[in-house]
Amino acid sequence: MIAVSILGIKEDKLNNYKKIDNTSCDYIHLDVMDGIFVENKVDFDFNYNFNKKLDIHLMVKNVEEYINKYKVLNPEFITFHIEVEEDIDKLIKILKDNNIKVGISIKPNTDINLLNKYLPYIDLILVMSVEPGRGGQKFIEESTNRINYLKEIREKNNYKYLIEVDGGINYDTISKVSNADIKVVGSYITNNDNYEEQIKTLK
Ligand code: DX5
Ligand code: ZN
Repeated sequence: MIAVSILGIKEDKLNNYKKIDNTSCDYIHLDVMDGIFVENKVDFDFNYNFNKKLDIHLMVKNVEEYINKYKVLNPEFITFHIEVEEDIDKLIKILKDNNIKVGISIKPNTDINLLNKYLPYIDLILVMSVEPGRGGQKFIEESTNRINYLKEIREKNNYKYLIEVDGGINYDTISKVSNADIKVVGSYITNNDNYEEQIKTLK
């Protein structure tokens, strides 16, 4: 499955959002940044209603505040970072109580074992294959091993989470992440006029 990150769309947003909405992608990936957890600050402007299912990636420190703000969009997934210094079990419960699927994301240099105790309870793991904060960066090769490892322990333990990868995915790197169920793709799609054509080359 392909989730399109709309982070790189800076001009003519409404028309370009509509154009993305009409492609064959599976999800719209909304990147939210608070200027604290990451340097940049990016909020969705809430004036376009996507028909596609939403996959929201919170790169924020105060997760609860942003869950409350974004739940009105009726997303399929809300993903927050394991690196936030907050009560992770409480955040999982808040999302479940709101009937939103729970995603946890992990930065490239964070010990993957920190995820272990949450694996039975969550719906999605988002493996960052770049440092979070901006689009257009280079894929970090080690991400492939992390994805393959997460797939292996999912099979061993019969866990149910989906594996998603985010950052630097393009025509050349997508073959390295074949074990990820959802590939987030930003600049490779949105830097080109014909979004659907780009999506087809990935599929
Ligand atoms: C990075 C974001 C990504 C990013 C992907 O912090 O989480 O979703 O927009 O963009 P590309 O595909 O250009 O790396
Ligand atoms: Zn993202």
